[in-house]
Amino acid sequence: MPEIKELIKQLADKHGRTRESLLPILQGVITEERFISDAAMAEVARELDMSAALVYGTATFYSFLDTKPRGKYVIRVCKTITCDMKGKRQILQTLEDVLKVKAGETTKDNKFTLLEANCLGWCHKGPAMLINEEAYTELTPEKVSEIIGEYMKK
Ligand code: FES
Repeated sequence: MPEIKELIKQLADKHGRTRESLLPILQGVITEERFISDAAMAEVARELDMSAALVYGTATFYSFLDTKPRGKYVIRVCKTITCDMKGKRQILQTLEDVLKVKAGETTKDNKFTLLEANCLGWCHKGPAMLINEEAYTELTPEKVSEIIGEYMKK
């Protein structure tokens, strides 16, 4: 995979080749590729002269660093306690119904991936979800259907 090699080299040139560089490099891979493949992790390990286990552990510890192919729009529903108490279950249920997938799955057309995530920092306005970088707060099932309807048209 020459492009991945080149990308990781560029990121390492930019961020350095120490342990502290690992996270920004992995984030850079996500920005370009939308997920971190095994090949990319192996390449990062090689470029930074680290064990693949360390790279893999870092990538999977930060659940925001996707290690599987994802849809064009990644929906992350907050599952942490405040949102949970404010009706997260209904929100997730609505998303599952509308998208016809379960949490953790990607729609057949590869457009949406539905995930649960830890606190997104919007607890005061829960329940909350992110679609890619965009935050949606104070959700209701109606609001969720509307938002997804808009994304479906995109
Ligand atoms: Fe859901 Fe913080 S608990 S955003």
